[in-house]
Amino acid sequence: MSFVATASSRIVLGLLSTIIDQLTSLGVLAWDIGLTIYNTFAPEHPVGQVVAKGMPGYRGKWPEFIPPKEGDSRSCCPALNAMANHGILPRDGKNIKYTDINAAIRATFNFAPSFCFFVPHFYASKLSRSYAHDTINLSDFNVHNIIEHDASLTRHDAVIQPDQGVPAQDLIDDLLASGTGPNGIITAADLAAVCTRRRCESKAKNSQFSLSLGQKMFGSSNSATLLAHFGGIPSDLRVFLKEERLPDGWESKVRKPAGLTISTFNSTVFRIELGIDESPATDGKKHA
Ligand SMILES: *[C@@H]1O[C@H](CO)[C@@H](O)[C@H](O)[C@H]1NC(C)=O
Ligand SMILES: *[C@@H]1O[C@H](CO)[C@@H](O)[C@H](O)[C@H]1NC(C)=O
Repeated sequence: MSFVATASSRIVLGLLSTIIDQLTSLGVLAWDIGLTIYNTFAPEHPVGQVVAKGMPGYRGKWPEFIPPKEGDSRSCCPALNAMANHGILPRDGKNIKYTDINAAIRATFNFAPSFCFFVPHFYASKLSRSYAHDTINLSDFNVHNIIEHDASLTRHDAVIQPDQGVPAQDLIDDLLASGTGPNGIITAADLAAVCTRRRCESKAKNSQFSLSLGQKMFGSSNSATLLAHFGGIPSDLRVFLKEERLPDGWESKVRKPAGLTISTFNSTVFRIELGIDESPATDGKKHA
């Protein structure tokens, strides 16, 4: 009896959390579409005024950069690490509220509130933690195959590079040198080509290589950030990716009043993902 009761209450709870997750996703999507529409007619932030007055980085003045010390917690994500290196998130990278991550991403990078809610909320639920009440250490973002994934552009695969909190300088140099736009600007096609190379290389070298569709999209989202927020400009990306520092005077290239929405971001993500050719015959090179 008690087994049946436990089993059925588990099923009910399981169903309930699935339904809540789906309703949350639908709610976020509707909210995101609303913000996207708002962005089409509301005026953009003027250049130089993307960061709100009183927030860190206002008029390009970022709080002091201090590289991580021994024992500090860092993630596979350059954006989160950079915020900790500037003290926008706690410098030790520990015990950070999910809700504070949401606010920091919003203020620093001008992502839409729907995006800033969705990503930390998704991650908390993947770790079975409470978005509203729990905290996270930055290194907790390195759990393999949730956000951290193989064939990243800034980290060697986890089996090769166990500490995913540190940028892989050699990979980043390759990425920075890949730009074919004016003044070496990195384009969506360049990012797709570098991703292609990384995926082929990882498949060849890493016997435990795995990359689900979700992680591919996440990988392409990270790439899209380099275009959307940094305009693909190598000198800024060098500072951001190699030192995980925000360049002096830098502000996000996203000037939309409600920030970069999931729906808008999505189109760049697809442009990159569709440009990636993983068929082994081409060995990472595009067909002529
Ligand atoms: C973060 O790290 C600290 C010290 O290393 C630890 O005490 C704490 O429990 C960790 N917090 C989370 C949310 O895991
Ligand atoms: C992103 O684009 C894909 C394909 O066009 C679509 O299926 C998906 O629903 C979109 N997601 C969002 C949040 O707009």
